[in-house]
Amino acid sequence: RIAYVNGRYLPHRAASVHIEDRGHQFADGIYEVIAVWKGRPVDLAGHFDRLETGLKELQIPMPMSRPVLAHVLRETVRRNKVTDGIVYLQVNRGKAPRVHTWSPGIKPSMVATARPMPAIRKQVIEDGVKVISVEDIRWKRRDIKTIGLLPNAMAKQKAAEAGCYEVFQVDKDGMVTEAGASNAWIVDQQGRLVTRPLGHEILPGITRATLMDLARANGIEVEERAFSLEEAKQAREAFVSGTTAFVMPVVQIDDAVLGNGKPGSVATRLRALYYDHLN
Ligand code: PDD
Repeated sequence: RIAYVNGRYLPHRAASVHIEDRGHQFADGIYEVIAVWKGRPVDLAGHFDRLETGLKELQIPMPMSRPVLAHVLRETVRRNKVTDGIVYLQVNRGKAPRVHTWSPGIKPSMVATARPMPAIRKQVIEDGVKVISVEDIRWKRRDIKTIGLLPNAMAKQKAAEAGCYEVFQVDKDGMVTEAGASNAWIVDQQGRLVTRPLGHEILPGITRATLMDLARANGIEVEERAFSLEEAKQAREAFVSGTTAFVMPVVQIDDAVLGNGKPGSVATRLRALYYDHLN
Protein backbone atom coordinates (compact mmCIF):
# COMPACT_ATOMS: atom_id res chain seq x y z
CA ARG A 1 0.00 0.00 0.00
CA ILE A 2 1.16 3.44 -1.00
CA ALA A 3 0.60 6.74 0.77
CA TYR A 4 1.11 10.29 -0.43
CA VAL A 5 3.06 12.30 2.16
CA ASN A 6 4.07 15.88 1.50
CA GLY A 7 5.04 15.51 -2.13
CA ARG A 8 6.11 11.87 -2.21
CA TYR A 9 4.45 8.51 -2.77
CA LEU A 10 5.82 6.02 -0.26
CA PRO A 11 5.07 2.51 0.98
CA HIS A 12 3.14 2.74 4.24
CA ARG A 13 6.01 1.40 6.31
CA ALA A 14 8.19 4.28 5.11
CA ALA A 15 5.47 6.92 5.27
CA SER A 16 5.53 9.07 8.38
CA VAL A 17 4.93 12.55 9.70
CA HIS A 18 7.06 14.64 12.02
CA ILE A 19 6.49 14.29 15.79
CA GLU A 20 5.98 18.05 16.00
CA ASP A 21 3.31 17.97 13.36
CA ARG A 22 0.41 19.99 14.77
CA GLY A 23 -2.02 17.38 13.55
CA HIS A 24 -0.36 14.96 15.94
CA GLN A 25 -0.08 17.39 18.84
CA PHE A 26 -3.26 19.46 18.61
CA ALA A 27 -5.53 17.63 16.14
CA ASP A 28 -4.97 20.86 14.20
CA GLY A 29 -6.19 19.80 10.80
CA ILE A 30 -9.01 18.84 8.47
CA TYR A 31 -9.75 15.58 6.70
CA GLU A 32 -11.95 14.25 3.98
CA VAL A 33 -13.04 10.71 3.17
CA ILE A 34 -14.11 10.43 -0.45
CA ALA A 35 -15.81 7.41 -1.96
CA VAL A 36 -14.07 5.72 -4.87
CA TRP A 37 -16.41 4.06 -7.31
CA LYS A 38 -15.21 2.31 -10.48
CA GLY A 39 -11.78 3.74 -9.74
CA ARG A 40 -12.95 7.35 -9.61
CA PRO A 41 -13.41 9.68 -6.64
CA VAL A 42 -17.10 10.55 -6.17
CA ASP A 43 -18.43 14.13 -5.82
CA LEU A 44 -14.94 15.60 -5.66
CA ALA A 45 -16.12 19.21 -6.05
CA GLY A 46 -18.34 18.96 -2.97
CA HIS A 47 -15.53 17.50 -0.90
CA PHE A 48 -13.14 20.24 -2.06
CA ASP A 49 -15.68 22.93 -1.19
CA ARG A 50 -16.04 21.53 2.32
CA LEU A 51 -12.27 21.14 2.69
CA GLU A 52 -11.68 24.75 1.64
CA THR A 53 -14.36 26.04 3.99
CA GLY A 54 -12.90 24.12 6.93
CA LEU A 55 -9.34 25.19 6.18
CA LYS A 56 -10.44 28.80 5.92
CA GLU A 57 -12.11 28.58 9.35
CA LEU A 58 -8.81 27.36 10.80
CA GLN A 59 -6.66 29.79 8.76
CA ILE A 60 -4.77 26.94 7.14
CA PRO A 61 -3.88 27.63 3.49
CA MET A 62 -4.90 25.14 0.77
CA PRO A 63 -1.69 23.15 0.23
CA MET A 64 -2.11 23.14 -3.55
CA SER A 65 -4.59 24.07 -6.24
CA ARG A 66 -7.70 21.96 -6.75
CA PRO A 67 -6.55 20.40 -10.04
CA VAL A 68 -3.24 19.35 -8.47
CA LEU A 69 -5.02 18.03 -5.41
CA ALA A 70 -7.40 16.07 -7.63
CA HIS A 71 -4.39 14.65 -9.43
CA VAL A 72 -2.76 13.55 -6.16
CA LEU A 73 -5.96 11.81 -5.04
CA ARG A 74 -6.43 10.03 -8.37
CA GLU A 75 -2.79 9.00 -8.34
CA THR A 76 -3.11 7.64 -4.79
CA VAL A 77 -6.19 5.67 -5.87
CA ARG A 78 -4.41 4.37 -8.97
CA ARG A 79 -1.24 3.34 -7.16
CA ASN A 80 -3.30 1.38 -4.65
CA LYS A 81 -5.43 -0.19 -7.40
CA VAL A 82 -8.64 0.79 -5.64
CA THR A 83 -11.80 0.43 -7.70
CA ASP A 84 -14.48 0.31 -4.98
CA GLY A 85 -13.26 1.97 -1.79
CA ILE A 86 -12.25 5.23 -0.27
CA VAL A 87 -9.51 7.80 -0.48
CA TYR A 88 -8.55 9.61 2.74
CA LEU A 89 -7.04 13.06 2.71
CA GLN A 90 -5.68 15.02 5.61
CA VAL A 91 -4.42 18.58 5.54
CA ASN A 92 -3.07 19.93 8.77
CA ARG A 93 -1.27 23.05 9.85
CA GLY A 94 2.17 21.54 9.59
CA LYS A 95 5.11 21.18 11.89
CA ALA A 96 6.16 23.74 14.48
CA PRO A 97 7.60 23.69 18.00
CA ARG A 98 4.81 22.86 20.40
CA VAL A 99 3.10 26.07 21.44
CA HIS A 100 -0.65 26.45 21.22
CA THR A 101 -0.67 29.54 19.02
CA TRP A 102 0.31 29.35 15.39
CA SER A 103 2.15 31.68 13.09
CA PRO A 104 0.91 32.21 9.56
CA GLY A 105 4.11 31.07 7.87
CA ILE A 106 3.84 27.34 8.64
CA LYS A 107 3.72 25.10 5.59
CA PRO A 108 0.68 22.82 5.71
CA SER A 109 1.24 19.12 5.79
CA MET A 110 -0.77 16.78 3.58
CA VAL A 111 -1.21 13.03 3.44
CA ALA A 112 -3.45 10.81 1.33
CA THR A 113 -4.16 7.09 1.52
CA ALA A 114 -6.59 4.86 -0.37
CA ARG A 115 -8.02 1.46 0.34
CA PRO A 116 -10.67 -0.90 -0.88
CA MET A 117 -13.81 -0.83 1.20
CA PRO A 118 -14.82 -4.36 1.97
CA ALA A 119 -18.33 -4.05 0.53
CA ILE A 120 -20.66 -3.75 3.48
CA ARG A 121 -22.32 -7.12 3.53
CA LYS A 122 -25.33 -7.40 1.34
CA GLN A 123 -27.17 -9.04 4.21
CA VAL A 124 -26.56 -6.05 6.45
CA ILE A 125 -28.13 -3.79 3.85
CA GLU A 126 -31.04 -6.17 3.43
CA ASP A 127 -31.57 -6.57 7.16
CA GLY A 128 -30.78 -3.00 8.19
CA VAL A 129 -28.75 -2.09 11.26
CA LYS A 130 -29.26 -1.14 14.88
CA VAL A 131 -28.13 2.10 16.48
CA ILE A 132 -27.88 3.27 20.06
CA SER A 133 -28.39 6.80 21.29
CA VAL A 134 -25.54 8.64 22.99
CA GLU A 135 -25.13 12.11 24.31
CA ASP A 136 -23.45 14.37 21.76
CA ILE A 137 -20.38 15.49 23.69
CA ARG A 138 -18.55 17.08 20.78
CA TRP A 139 -17.51 20.71 20.43
CA LYS A 140 -19.69 23.47 19.02
CA ARG A 141 -18.26 23.55 15.47
CA ARG A 142 -19.26 20.15 14.18
CA ASP A 143 -19.54 21.60 10.68
CA ILE A 144 -15.74 21.66 10.54
CA LYS A 145 -14.40 18.25 9.57
CA THR A 146 -11.65 18.31 12.15
CA ILE A 147 -9.35 15.35 12.71
CA GLY A 148 -10.19 15.67 16.44
CA LEU A 149 -12.48 12.64 16.40
CA LEU A 150 -12.15 11.28 19.92
CA PRO A 151 -15.83 11.81 20.86
CA ASN A 152 -16.90 10.15 17.61
CA ALA A 153 -14.51 7.26 18.19
CA MET A 154 -15.78 6.80 21.76
CA ALA A 155 -19.39 6.85 20.59
CA LYS A 156 -18.77 4.37 17.79
CA GLN A 157 -16.82 2.11 20.13
CA LYS A 158 -19.78 2.05 22.48
CA ALA A 159 -22.04 1.16 19.55
CA ALA A 160 -19.74 -1.64 18.42
CA GLU A 161 -19.61 -3.07 21.94
CA ALA A 162 -23.42 -3.06 21.97
CA GLY A 163 -23.49 -4.89 18.63
CA CYS A 164 -24.69 -1.78 16.83
CA TYR A 165 -23.50 -0.22 13.59
CA GLU A 166 -23.89 3.42 14.51
CA VAL A 167 -25.03 5.91 17.14
CA PHE A 168 -27.64 8.62 17.08
CA GLN A 169 -26.03 11.52 18.89
CA VAL A 170 -28.46 13.57 20.93
CA ASP A 171 -28.09 17.21 21.97
CA LYS A 172 -29.09 18.76 25.31
CA ASP A 173 -32.64 19.33 24.05
CA GLY A 174 -33.17 15.68 23.19
CA MET A 175 -32.82 16.32 19.46
CA VAL A 176 -30.73 14.05 17.23
CA THR A 177 -27.76 15.84 15.70
CA GLU A 178 -26.26 13.12 13.49
CA ALA A 179 -24.63 9.72 13.71
CA GLY A 180 -21.00 8.99 14.66
CA ALA A 181 -19.62 9.06 11.14
CA SER A 182 -22.72 9.67 9.06
CA ASN A 183 -25.82 11.87 8.92
CA ALA A 184 -29.13 10.79 10.44
CA TRP A 185 -32.52 10.74 8.68
CA ILE A 186 -36.02 9.61 9.46
CA VAL A 187 -39.26 9.21 7.55
CA ASP A 188 -41.83 10.79 9.86
CA GLN A 189 -45.43 9.74 10.52
CA GLN A 190 -46.57 11.97 7.64
CA GLY A 191 -44.24 10.09 5.30
CA ARG A 192 -41.85 13.02 4.86
CA LEU A 193 -38.13 12.58 4.71
CA VAL A 194 -36.59 14.54 7.59
CA THR A 195 -33.00 15.47 8.36
CA ARG A 196 -31.45 18.14 10.55
CA PRO A 197 -30.75 21.52 8.90
CA LEU A 198 -27.15 22.53 8.29
CA GLY A 199 -25.48 24.72 10.88
CA HIS A 200 -22.71 24.46 13.43
CA GLU A 201 -24.36 21.38 14.99
CA ILE A 202 -23.70 18.81 12.25
CA LEU A 203 -21.28 17.99 9.48
CA PRO A 204 -22.60 19.02 6.07
CA GLY A 205 -22.43 15.54 4.54
CA ILE A 206 -21.70 15.28 0.85
CA THR A 207 -23.87 12.17 0.66
CA ARG A 208 -26.60 14.08 2.49
CA ALA A 209 -26.50 16.85 -0.12
CA THR A 210 -26.62 14.37 -2.99
CA LEU A 211 -29.52 12.47 -1.42
CA MET A 212 -31.42 15.68 -0.89
CA ASP A 213 -31.08 16.53 -4.60
CA LEU A 214 -31.99 13.00 -5.64
CA ALA A 215 -35.05 12.94 -3.39
CA ARG A 216 -36.35 16.28 -4.66
CA ALA A 217 -35.68 15.37 -8.28
CA ASN A 218 -37.71 12.20 -7.76
CA GLY A 219 -40.69 13.74 -6.05
CA ILE A 220 -39.81 12.70 -2.50
CA GLU A 221 -40.58 15.52 -0.09
CA VAL A 222 -37.66 16.51 2.17
CA GLU A 223 -37.99 18.58 5.28
CA GLU A 224 -34.90 20.02 6.96
CA ARG A 225 -35.80 20.21 10.61
CA ALA A 226 -34.43 18.90 13.87
CA PHE A 227 -36.16 15.75 15.14
CA SER A 228 -36.07 14.32 18.64
CA LEU A 229 -34.82 10.91 19.67
CA GLU A 230 -38.39 10.15 20.77
CA GLU A 231 -39.75 11.02 17.34
CA ALA A 232 -37.06 8.88 15.69
CA LYS A 233 -38.05 5.90 17.80
CA GLN A 234 -41.61 6.22 16.53
CA ALA A 235 -40.69 7.06 12.95
CA ARG A 236 -41.77 4.91 10.03
CA GLU A 237 -38.17 4.57 8.93
CA ALA A 238 -34.69 5.76 9.73
CA PHE A 239 -31.35 5.55 7.98
CA VAL A 240 -27.88 7.04 8.00
CA SER A 241 -25.93 8.44 5.05
CA GLY A 242 -22.23 8.86 4.41
CA THR A 243 -19.27 8.09 2.23
CA THR A 244 -18.63 4.64 3.65
CA ALA A 245 -22.11 3.09 3.60
CA PHE A 246 -23.95 5.47 1.22
CA VAL A 247 -27.46 4.81 2.57
CA MET A 248 -27.79 2.40 5.48
CA PRO A 249 -31.28 1.54 6.74
CA VAL A 250 -31.75 1.62 10.52
CA VAL A 251 -34.29 -0.84 11.91
CA GLN A 252 -33.80 -0.38 15.62
CA ILE A 253 -32.93 2.58 17.88
CA ASP A 254 -32.07 1.51 21.42
CA ASP A 255 -34.95 -0.85 22.29
CA ALA A 256 -37.39 0.57 19.76
CA VAL A 257 -37.93 -1.50 16.63
CA LEU A 258 -39.01 0.65 13.68
CA GLY A 259 -41.98 -0.41 11.56
CA ASN A 260 -41.87 -4.11 10.85
CA GLY A 261 -38.16 -4.28 11.69
CA LYS A 262 -37.10 -4.34 8.04
CA PRO A 263 -35.52 -1.56 5.95
CA GLY A 264 -38.21 0.87 4.85
CA SER A 265 -39.29 1.57 1.29
CA VAL A 266 -38.03 5.18 1.22
CA ALA A 267 -34.53 4.23 2.42
CA THR A 268 -34.44 1.37 -0.04
CA ARG A 269 -35.52 3.64 -2.88
CA LEU A 270 -32.97 6.32 -1.98
CA ARG A 271 -30.27 3.71 -1.86
CA ALA A 272 -31.19 2.62 -5.37
CA LEU A 273 -31.24 6.24 -6.58
CA TYR A 274 -27.82 6.77 -5.02
CA TYR A 275 -26.41 3.80 -6.93
CA ASP A 276 -27.88 5.24 -10.14
CA HIS A 277 -26.08 8.49 -9.31
CA LEU A 278 -22.78 6.61 -8.86
CA ASN A 279 -23.08 4.60 -12.07
N1 PDD B 1 -17.46 10.53 8.07
N2 PDD B 1 -21.28 13.19 9.99
C1 PDD B 1 -20.08 12.87 10.51
C2 PDD B 1 -19.81 13.19 11.94
C3 PDD B 1 -19.10 12.26 9.70
O1 PDD B 1 -17.91 11.96 10.21
C4 PDD B 1 -19.41 11.96 8.34
C5 PDD B 1 -18.42 11.31 7.43
C6 PDD B 1 -20.70 12.29 7.86
C7 PDD B 1 -21.12 12.01 6.45
O2 PDD B 1 -20.47 12.88 5.53
P1 PDD B 1 -20.18 12.43 4.03
O3 PDD B 1 -21.50 12.10 3.41
O4 PDD B 1 -19.57 13.64 3.42
O5 PDD B 1 -19.28 11.25 4.10
C8 PDD B 1 -21.59 12.92 8.72
C9 PDD B 1 -16.37 9.96 7.34
C10 PDD B 1 -16.79 9.01 6.27
C11 PDD B 1 -15.38 9.37 8.32
O6 PDD B 1 -15.14 10.01 9.32
O7 PDD B 1 -14.83 8.30 8.07
